[in-house]
Amino acid sequence: MAETITLEIDARTLSVPAGSTVAAAIARASDNAGVLTRRSVGGAVRGPLCGMGICQECRVTIDGRPHRLACQTLCTPGMVVITARS
Ligand code: FES
Repeated sequence: MAETITLEIDARTLSVPAGSTVAAAIARASDNAGVLTRRSVGGAVRGPLCGMGICQECRVTIDGRPHRLACQTLCTPGMVVITARS
């Protein structure tokens, strides 16, 4: 059985396979409602685009630190993630 990590995304607790990125965890938590990470200055919804640290569209707050790249950050136990959805 694969190891899992439990974290919190927008006040929702969920478990993901070890080695998952925060972007993958956000997608898993979205329940097919669209993957939303942030809003643009104009208020448009934004989500992961490149998946390799270039576009900056996946920025979220992780453990109180804003503008972390969800696609480049691995989930850790007890991590608290806040997206523009909350
Ligand atoms: S999805 Fe492009 S930087 Fe994360």
